[in-house]
Amino acid sequence: MRRSLIGAAVLIVTVGTAPAAAARAATPALPNVVVPAPVSETANGATFTLTSSATIGTDAADVGNYLAAILRASTGYPIPVSAGGSGTIALSLSGAPSSVGTQGYQLTVTGTNVTVQANAAAGLFAGVQTLLQLLPPAIQSPTVASGPWTAPGGTVVDYPRFGHRGAMLDVARHFFTVSQVERYIDEIAHYKVNYFHLHLSDDQGWRIVINSWPNLATYGGSTEVGGGPGGYYTQADYSAIVAYAQARYITVIPEIDMPGHTNAALASYAQLNCSGKAPRLYTGTKVGFSSLCVPLDLTYTFIDQVVGELAALTPGPYIHIGGDEASSTTASDYSYFINRAQQIVAAHGKTVIGWHDIANAPLLASTVAQFWDTTTSNAPLASAVANGTKVVMSPANHAYLDMKYNRQTKLGQTWAGLVDVNTAYGWNPGAYLSGVGESSVLGVEAPLWTETIVTSADIDYMAFPRLPAIAELGWSPWSTHDVTAFDSRLGAQGPRWKVMGVNYYHSTQIAWPAGS
Ligand code: ACM
Repeated sequence: MRRSLIGAAVLIVTVGTAPAAAARAATPALPNVVVPAPVSETANGATFTLTSSATIGTDAADVGNYLAAILRASTGYPIPVSAGGSGTIALSLSGAPSSVGTQGYQLTVTGTNVTVQANAAAGLFAGVQTLLQLLPPAIQSPTVASGPWTAPGGTVVDYPRFGHRGAMLDVARHFFTVSQVERYIDEIAHYKVNYFHLHLSDDQGWRIVINSWPNLATYGGSTEVGGGPGGYYTQADYSAIVAYAQARYITVIPEIDMPGHTNAALASYAQLNCSGKAPRLYTGTKVGFSSLCVPLDLTYTFIDQVVGELAALTPGPYIHIGGDEASSTTASDYSYFINRAQQIVAAHGKTVIGWHDIANAPLLASTVAQFWDTTTSNAPLASAVANGTKVVMSPANHAYLDMKYNRQTKLGQTWAGLVDVNTAYGWNPGAYLSGVGESSVLGVEAPLWTETIVTSADIDYMAFPRLPAIAELGWSPWSTHDVTAFDSRLGAQGPRWKVMGVNYYHSTQIAWPAGS
C-alpha cells in the first residue's frame, strides 16, 4: 500500500519525464520470487517447460552436475550433462556482460531453452540458484515429485553489491557432525552466500584435531554446553567440509578464538596457563573468564603450530582469530597479543579476520574487523577504518541468528534484543556505523551461536527465514530495498523449505502461501 502511494506521488512530480517512466512501467516483470532480489529482471512472456528429454551443457562440469543432481532427484528425468555450452540448459562461460563481474551472471529463459552466462564458474552457480527459484518449489524435492516444471521466460542480469556474504556456525558450544554442517552449507548456498565461518574453539570445546597438540581435540573437545559428549573434526573431516563448501562456491573461514574464549585449550594443557595449572572443562554459558597467558613464550609457539596446521588445511585466504570479549586480559596485554597473533597468521600466508574488539590493537593493513555490537558507532573501529581497515558487518541486533524472534521463542538469547525477520532485514550495511561507509564494508555475515542450539532442526529454525534477509542485504542493490516486496519474495521461499524439510520459523510478518 505505502509503496504504491509513493509511486503515485513520484509519477505526478516527474510528469516532465513521462516517456521514460512509461517505458519502465511497460516492461513486463518476472514474478517477485527470487531471494536475494536480482539487479534487473525483464519478462518476455514465454514459458519454459523442463521435459524428460532435457539436457545440460556446461563449461563448468561441477556446476552442471550440481544442477543435474537437484533436477534428477525431483523430476526423475535422466538430465544428461555434457561439456560445452549447448543443451536445453546451457551454462556458458562466454558472452556474459562484463558488468556482472566474477560472481554475477546473465540468465535467459525462452520458450525452449535456458542459458546462464557468466565470467567465472561462481557466477554460473549463482545463476543456477536463480533458475531453481524460478522453477516450482517441488523442483527442490529430494524425491520424485510432479510437475509441470515450468519457469517464466525473461532475462535476469545480476551481480552482488558486496563481495563477502557470510554465515557462521558455532560448533564449539554444541558440536555438529560433518553431515549436519554440510546440510547447513547446502541451505545457505541457495541464497548466494559465499563464505562459511566455522567457530571452531571456545571455552566449552575445541573441535579440530591439531596433531602437534593432540589433547585439544581428545580432551578439550570432549564436552559441550550442558555437559553433552561434544566431539571434534579430524583433519580429514575438516577438509571434507572445506571441499563440500568449495563445490558450492563457498570459502571456509576457520576461527580459533583467542586470547579469551580459550578454556577448552587451557584445560587441555596445564603448561599454557600462567599458573601452570589446568582449569576444569567448562559446560556453562558465561563469557570473559579465560585468557591465554600473554607473557608466556609457549603461547606463541602454540598459536604458531595451531595456525600452521589450520592454514595448511585451508585453501581460503582467511584465518579468524576471534579476539572478542577478552575481559580477563589487560588492555596492554591484549594489544601486545593481537599484534603477535596477527604476525603469526601473516607468516603462514593468511589474512587475519577478528571480531571488531581487535580495533583496540594496532592492526596490519590487511586485517579485517568483523563488527558484532548493537551500537551504531564504535570509536576504535571508526579510527581503524580511517586508517584503511575493512569491515564485515554482523550487528547483533539485526544479524545474529541466535536472538529470539519474540518473547515466546523457545530457543535463543535476548541480550541483543528480539529479532524478527523485518528487523533482520531493516538496516543498511553500507551506511550503518558512523565512520564506516560503503567502500570500507566488504560485506555481511549472519552468525549462529549455539549455546541453546542442539539439532539441525534448531539450526533451521533460527536461520530461516532470517539468513536470507542478511544474504539479500549483502547481495542486492540498495535500490531494491523494500520491506513489502522482500516479505513477499521471502514468503515464496516457504514452500521450498517445506519441500526440502527445512524447519523454518513461520514468522507472522510474512504471508506464507497456504500449505507451507
Ligand atoms: C561475539 O558475539 N562475542 C562475537
